[in-house]
Amino acid sequence: MKVLVLGGDGFCGWPTSLHLSDIGHDVTIVDNLSRRAIDLELEVDSLTPIRPIGERIRVWKELTGKNIEFVNLDLAQEYDRLETLLINERPDAIVHFGEQRAAPYSMRDTRSKRYTVDNNVRGAHNVLAAIVASGLDIALVHLGTMGVYGYGWSGSAPIPEGYLTVKVPTPDGDIEREILHPANPGSVYHLTKTLDQLLFAFYASNDQIRITDLHQGIVWGTQTPQTALDERLINRFDYDGDYGTVLNRFLMQAAIGHPLTVHGTGGQTRAFIHIRDTVRCIQIALENPPARGDKPMVFNQVTETHRVIELAQLISKLTGAEVALLPNPRREAAENELNVSRDRFLALGLNPTKLSEGLLEEARDVAERYRDRADTTKIIARSVWRQGMETSPDLVEG
Ligand SMILES: NC(=O)c1ccc[n+]([C@@H]2O[C@H](COP(=O)([O-])OP(=O)(O)OC[C@H]3O[C@@H](n4cnc5c(N)ncnc54)[C@H](O)[C@@H]3O)[C@@H](O)[C@H]2O)c1
Repeated sequence: MKVLVLGGDGFCGWPTSLHLSDIGHDVTIVDNLSRRAIDLELEVDSLTPIRPIGERIRVWKELTGKNIEFVNLDLAQEYDRLETLLINERPDAIVHFGEQRAAPYSMRDTRSKRYTVDNNVRGAHNVLAAIVASGLDIALVHLGTMGVYGYGWSGSAPIPEGYLTVKVPTPDGDIEREILHPANPGSVYHLTKTLDQLLFAFYASNDQIRITDLHQGIVWGTQTPQTALDERLINRFDYDGDYGTVLNRFLMQAAIGHPLTVHGTGGQTRAFIHIRDTVRCIQIALENPPARGDKPMVFNQVTETHRVIELAQLISKLTGAEVALLPNPRREAAENELNVSRDRFLALGLNPTKLSEGLLEEARDVAERYRDRADTTKIIARSVWRQGMETSPDLVEG
């Protein structure tokens, strides 16, 4: 299968590109390298020493003989080039990771809010419009997020995979309808993912584009079998307050002897998935697309749910690190239940990596190994959801 991986230089996109290439697909990465530019803007770097995209691709070819093409293109700004690329390359499928993905970054200031909306919504719409304009039957797999559902909206009822069956009262009695699960975004970033859903619903219905939207949980872990083949293929590991996802941040904090920074009471329950399972899920989604004319197929791409404080305690037990409770910069419930339906991937053969199996390896092989590269001034989240919620420097010190 010929696959374009949009955002293929990023944390999820790079290991996915290697995995798909490894199993025999013809992969082209499309990326404008904006994530690397944001590192420069924030004056922070991946904990792991990631190499430039050209070198990554050369090393992959050297080790495996497999070719990956790279196109530097901005999905939001360069529509004509995107359309021409589709017409020339004639891909069977597109995997779309190419969005600004940090909630804290999206709430940083007015500029980053506007950038996140312009980049993500325009990019997603350009991809859909270009698929239609190409006249080709290209299946689209998009990375959404569990955050589109919000947290705690339906109490302890399980979050369904995308759609909810509701009863609509009419003068002739109730009728049943299946609707998109109500959107309940908690940040501008999450808002863009809820807007993406409407774009997908329209284009699936109007143009019969085959679309799969994967509502992914928080990804943890760093390496996959392919990125671990050679240090020059290593995946990125974000630990800073904006981009570092919670579990990876804790692991790195433990490795450098920094207290594990928990926001609020840590009673927030979140959904997780290991990067090794992310790449398998993408493969499964590509192999099982919806039919033309179907509504977008939604999968909840999560394997476990945990309270943040429990994760901190687990890592504290493993490493001896202290736990520090900081004021929560986000507007969110202090505690929530999270019960997620996730039957589809399991039914299609996913065999998840458990937190209990992967944590030690991650702490040892990544966080410990590269801890000298950490800049401790970048650990604390600086973005706040509303003015006046700034994190107190006293508490930051733990
Ligand atoms: N990492 C997670 O925990 C997580 C969780 C849920 C969902 N997701 C989703 O998965 C996708 C990938 O996440 P990630 O962690 O790999 O993020 P990332 O920032 O590491 O990678 C995104 C890639 O897309 C590229 N990109 C962004 N805008 C672009 C544009 N306009 N044109 C071309 N390329 C562009 C960036 O340069 C980067 O390489 C995102 O859509 C994200 O919302 C990630």
